[in-house]
Amino acid sequence: MENTVTIIDNRTGKQYTFTDTHDTIRAMDLRNIKVAPDDFGMMSYDPAFMNTASCESRITFIDGDKGILRYRGYDIADLAERCSFPQVAYLVIHGELPDAEQEREWLAALRIHMGIFENIKKFMEGFRYDAHPMGMLVSTLAALSTFYPDSRHVRDHETQMHCIRRIIGKIPIIAAYGYRHSKGLDYISPEPKLGYAENFMHMLWDRSPLEHLKHPVLARALDVLFILHIDHEQNCSTNAMRAVGSSEADPFLSIAGAAAALAGPLHGGANEEVLKMLDEIGSIDNIPAFIQGVKEGHHKLMGFGHRVYKNYDPRARIIKRTAEEVFEVTGRNKKIDLAMELERIALADEYFVSRKLYPNVDFYSGIIYEAMGLEAKMFTVLFAIPRAVGWLAQWQELINDPAQKIARPRQIYTGYERRKLPDSYTYGAPSEESLAYTR
Ligand code: CMC
Repeated sequence: MENTVTIIDNRTGKQYTFTDTHDTIRAMDLRNIKVAPDDFGMMSYDPAFMNTASCESRITFIDGDKGILRYRGYDIADLAERCSFPQVAYLVIHGELPDAEQEREWLAALRIHMGIFENIKKFMEGFRYDAHPMGMLVSTLAALSTFYPDSRHVRDHETQMHCIRRIIGKIPIIAAYGYRHSKGLDYISPEPKLGYAENFMHMLWDRSPLEHLKHPVLARALDVLFILHIDHEQNCSTNAMRAVGSSEADPFLSIAGAAAALAGPLHGGANEEVLKMLDEIGSIDNIPAFIQGVKEGHHKLMGFGHRVYKNYDPRARIIKRTAEEVFEVTGRNKKIDLAMELERIALADEYFVSRKLYPNVDFYSGIIYEAMGLEAKMFTVLFAIPRAVGWLAQWQELINDPAQKIARPRQIYTGYERRKLPDSYTYGAPSEESLAYTR
């Protein structure tokens, strides 16, 4: 009876024994629990997937109570300190770190895909000058699907790898062009011989007043920030990637769905919101009143709290260190002092302590990005570039997992019983009177 769970149905007195694998019982087994043979059977109800595993995964491990994050078994702190973004991207996609030859091939393969069609540039020129960069990114990723019809063969391994390399190569270009577009600047072609983060900075700042920001210390800081954001197991956007991908939509369409999910302020959009919040608070003197407002439910402390971490987010710790290195080059962003004081006060307050609310990755990232010359509107795009790697690894894992099928949750219907349509409804062309109606 070891590794089993027994449930007694008090409605019938029947006993059901389920196998427990990884501390989990299969939701489909619950369907055996029935009052009568023609009964549909028991379901589990779990809005927001608070306690439902939707897949088995070998990519990312998080222990939220201990504040642990690992990609493919390696601690995030070690990867951030000793590896480059492309190396970690290779690890997350392939499962192992690259040797020297594999790394050369990987970089060469990404370089080949660092370019976009002229039509895509024209497509991007169509956005309004004040279009949000995330809106531009989401739409352009979806538009890429029309350029690569071969990407529909999602079950073919070579196609999968080709799409993965294409997207990782192209996403920084789309992001940089979105930025340049919003500034009214001409697009700068990628310089594939540069490192991944360096090339991104080149496309952002070349031939602009911010050219001095193409600094090696800042490029390494961006590289580290990219590593920290690569994957975070089954978060909202990854779940969107898997849900869209499960219909066998091509990976460009699936990733557009994932990026759209990331854009919300409760997810990747939080980094932009943190900066707005710090601007609103303005000075250290105003923190107690702001915290009181949070406790009274008037607003949230953005950049705090996490569905999984109930301890310090290990990424926030690394980001704080990286911030100091960036400030040595750029000068100190005063908002860091405000943020650190906010954190100190919050972490000593019963409201935050009892709810286990700690700073998450977004609390400090925006402050560094701002010091690096990037404005708040771009922050979520900076999250999306590296997260594309995680989304793609998760998408490939999903497609190749025989246990997976199209994602299709159940519902508990609580609407009307059958109703009769009123007799006044008979189909016909709209009357002249209704067509002429204006408010
Ligand atoms: N400020 C104030 N109270 C909060 C906060 C916050 N940031 N986060 C959670 N709480 C409270 C919440 O009101 C609830 O209180 P009560 O039990 O009295 O009702 C309790 O803490 C539990 O919160 P929850 O809303 O049930 O937690 P969740 O797992 O559904 O939400 C979250 C997680 C990240 C959406 C939420 O913490 C939040 O909105 N944080 C601010 C936005 C943010 O920083 N998001 C970035 C997340 S990390 C990076 C990423 O995933 O993109």
